[in-house]
Amino acid sequence: MIVAPSILAADFSRLLEEAKEMEAYGAQFLHIDVMDGHFVPNITIGPMVYRNIKGKVKMLFDVHLMISDPKYYAEAYVRAGADILTFHYEAVEDVKGMIEYLHSLNVKAGISIRPGTDIRVLDEFLPLLDLVLVMSVEPGFGGQSFLPSALEKIAYLKNEKNRHHYSYLIEVDGGINSETAKLCRDAGVEVLVAGTYIFGSKNREATVRELLAL
Ligand code: DX5
Ligand code: ZN
Repeated sequence: MIVAPSILAADFSRLLEEAKEMEAYGAQFLHIDVMDGHFVPNITIGPMVYRNIKGKVKMLFDVHLMISDPKYYAEAYVRAGADILTFHYEAVEDVKGMIEYLHSLNVKAGISIRPGTDIRVLDEFLPLLDLVLVMSVEPGFGGQSFLPSALEKIAYLKNEKNRHHYSYLIEVDGGINSETAKLCRDAGVEVLVAGTYIFGSKNREATVRELLAL
């Protein structure tokens, strides 16, 4: 399993130490949640927040854009060190153009859908994508409860991936804990994002390693 700790739940005054700690426990991705107060009712971070930790850890920077105009801002987030840049299907009119634009910036292209969006809207884009992020909570805040409707989306993506030999990674985000992680694993997920479960844990190392071992 690939584990992507979400820094939304980290201590921002110690961001580099928090990131190094996750890396030491074996986390492969660092999940970075970008919110603009418009696409979602919360504001988080801009590229300057993680630019200075790039190069100091080796984890891939998995940047999740929950913003209304991802095309306008994409280049800044890539320059700051994103390895994977994920935008929301609901925020973009020309989805194919956006994926191609990301590839022209030399970044892996990810797409995400809100819990209420039908997974099948992604069908035509699946061959082009490097990652599909299934939201298992309404985007905007950490610490919410897992919505089980994510499981059938994960299973659908896994099935399509196997059937067509697609190369995207299947990632899930929101409400991940010991139980929901197992359900997602059984459905076919490949990347687990977890914020509260990891950073709020009394034994963070055991928590990361537990998810890695799934
Ligand atoms: C929510 C974010 C998530 C969030 C997950 O909109 O996309 O990445 O940090 O937090 P937990 O794991 O606490 O549900
Ligand atoms: Zn996220």
